[in-house]
Amino acid sequence: MIRTPICDLLDIEHPIALGGMGSASSPAMTAAVSRAGGLGAMGCHYLTPEQVRERTTATRKETNKPFGLNFLLFDVRDDSFAEALNLRPAVMQFAWARQDQDLKPYFDRAHHAGCKVTYMAGAVPEAQRAVKAGADVIIAQGSEGGGHVGWMGSMPLIPMVVDAVGGSVPVLAAGGFADGRGLVAALALGAQGILLGTRFLASVESPLHPNFKQAVVDSDGHDTQLSEIPDIAAGQVWPGAMTRSRRNKFIERWAGREWALRQNRAEAIARLRAARESGDVDEGPLSMGQDAGLIHDIPPAGEIVRRIAEQAEQILTKTLPGLTRH
Ligand SMILES: Cc1cc2nc3c(=O)[nH]c(=O)nc-3n(C[C@H](O)[C@H](O)[C@H](O)COP(=O)(O)O)c2cc1C
Repeated sequence: MIRTPICDLLDIEHPIALGGMGSASSPAMTAAVSRAGGLGAMGCHYLTPEQVRERTTATRKETNKPFGLNFLLFDVRDDSFAEALNLRPAVMQFAWARQDQDLKPYFDRAHHAGCKVTYMAGAVPEAQRAVKAGADVIIAQGSEGGGHVGWMGSMPLIPMVVDAVGGSVPVLAAGGFADGRGLVAALALGAQGILLGTRFLASVESPLHPNFKQAVVDSDGHDTQLSEIPDIAAGQVWPGAMTRSRRNKFIERWAGREWALRQNRAEAIARLRAARESGDVDEGPLSMGQDAGLIHDIPPAGEIVRRIAEQAEQILTKTLPGLTRH
C-alpha cells in the first residue's frame, strides 16, 4: 500500500482525493470515495446553509470517514460557510480567491472549527500566499484539468509548487490525473498524492445525467477547450480563469460572439439548464479535463480509488524497480 505523510495528516488510507465539484458533487460520491480510504469532498458553491447541512448529514449517514467541504472564496456565501463551520468537517477545501482577498480570516475560522485547510493554486505565488495564510495542504492544479483552471500545465507546475512550498506543507497534484500511472507520476514530481475531478464524473455515484457520464467515456481527450462562455452564460466573473469543458454546439455557437451571449443570456441559460436536465450533451455544458481520454468505463467511485491505489503500487513495486541497475 502506498502511504505518504499526507495520509496521516488527513487520516486517510490512500493519497487520493476527490475535488469538490459544485453541482457535479453528491453525498453518495463523496461518501464512496471516503469509505474506500480516499478523501471525499463536496462542492458547496451555490448551496444554501440548509443544503450544506442536508448534504453533509446525508454524507455522514453513509460514512464516518473524513471528507471535505469545498468553497470558492471569490464568491463565498458567508451564511453557508458559517453553517459548514458549525458542521466541523475534517477538511475545508478552498479554491479561487480574488487577488485582493485576505485568506487568513477564512483559514483561521476553519482551523478554529477543527478543520484542516487545503487551498488549490494554479501558480506559485498563489500557493505561497496560501501557505503564508496558514494552509495545511496545497493542491497544485494544472491547466489540463476539468473545470476552472489556471495557465500552467501540471508537469512543470507541480514540481515548481513543490520547490516553493513543499518544505513547509504537503502538495497534492491535480489536473490530468486519472489512474495509478498518474499517482506514480505525481509522487515522482514531489507531490504526496493526487486530487481528481473528471475521473469521478464517470462513476456510478456521480450525479450527472447518464449521457454526460457517457460523453466523458466517449471523449478521446482532444475535445476539451478553455473558454469563458459557460461563465458568461452563468453571469459569473471568475478571477483569472477559464473553464475547461467539452467542446459542443453550445460553445461553438457563441465562440467569438461573446457579446451576443451577454445580450441573450436569459434565453441561453434557460436552454442550457434544460439541456443539462434532459441529458443533451450538445447543448449542455460539461466541464471535463483532457484526462477524459484515459477514462473508459463508469465504475463505482470506491472502485476507482482502489484501482488507482493498486495500479500505482504495482508500478512502484514491480515495474519501476526493474529499470534500475546497480
Ligand atoms: C465538473 C467539475 C466541477 C468542478 N468544480 C469545482 C469546484 O466547485 N471547486 C473546486 O475547487 N474545484 C472544482 N473543480 C476542479 C477540481 O477540483 C479539480 O481541480 C480538477 O477536476 C482536477 O483535474 P481533473 O479534472 O483532470 O481531475 C471542478 C472540476 C470539474 C470537472
